[in-house]
Amino acid sequence: MTRDSNNCSLITLLLFFLLLISITNYFRFRNIELYLTSSTNSDSSDVVAHYQQESIKQLRKNALLTAENDRKILFNASRLTNNQDFYRKVVEEAYCAQKERIGEKGDGGKYVCNPKKVKKNCTLISSGLNNQIGFDKHIYEATGRQCKILGADIYQQEQPTRDAYEQMNGELFAAKIPNEITIPQILEKTGRIDVEFLKIDIEKGEFTALEPLIKDYFVCQIFIEIHGLPSDHLRMLQIIAKCVSLFLFIF
Ligand SMILES: *[C@@H]1O[C@H](CO)[C@@H](O)[C@H](O)[C@H]1NC(C)=O
Ligand SMILES: *[C@@H]1O[C@H](CO)[C@@H](O)[C@H](O)[C@H]1NC(C)=O
Repeated sequence: MTRDSNNCSLITLLLFFLLLISITNYFRFRNIELYLTSSTNSDSSDVVAHYQQESIKQLRKNALLTAENDRKILFNASRLTNNQDFYRKVVEEAYCAQKERIGEKGDGGKYVCNPKKVKKNCTLISSGLNNQIGFDKHIYEATGRQCKILGADIYQQEQPTRDAYEQMNGELFAAKIPNEITIPQILEKTGRIDVEFLKIDIEKGEFTALEPLIKDYFVCQIFIEIHGLPSDHLRMLQIIAKCVSLFLFIF
């Protein structure tokens, strides 16, 4: 593994931590992002250096002061029934210099942070395929055709989907997650250790499938379709924040 690829992972790792830690702490990251994007001396690729600037540390301290109130506001919003209103209260907190739209324009597409800067031979997981693999093909290309893509769906996929996966040298699993197979089991079967990108759209299975994975495995970026009311969304964000803070110590 080159030092360069280590750095790349470190950067995305850092972004991920920031996003998730802030879900528990709610420091106002928007100011920090504004600062970063308007910063004149910016080599925006060197995110780690940006985060070490004194001015950023100060912004973060200030943001922490409003954390408690932000948390209350979000909790209040989680008692409403409208998910859009809830997400309006979620402050964007991670800075990503290079966001790329991967997959279809509308539903199914995702913004991915720095897909070209993945670790060599990384692992991509796509769960809940339903024969729609626009994202899968695109992310496989965008990460330089060198990552292993693992797809899963409750039903066996149609021939064109299977062919496309074979062309990508990927592997398909036909079983219900997490009841019939868990994501850690998929990793074990394929001998993979950590996950660069996880896409998860498994009709409420996310509430039980994600925690065992992120508790024990490192996952760099998660793209998740969360079902249910704002209170369910808050619960999911709390699960993620809880597990990821454990990784902080390793980091
Ligand atoms: C949350 O809701 C309660 C009761 O509806 C209200 O008293 C409180 O001011 C709200 N808090 C925030 C931070 O909006
Ligand atoms: C890719 O990673 C897998 C799992 O960690 C490993 O078994 C395999 O040898 C690696 N392949 C290359 C080309 O490095």
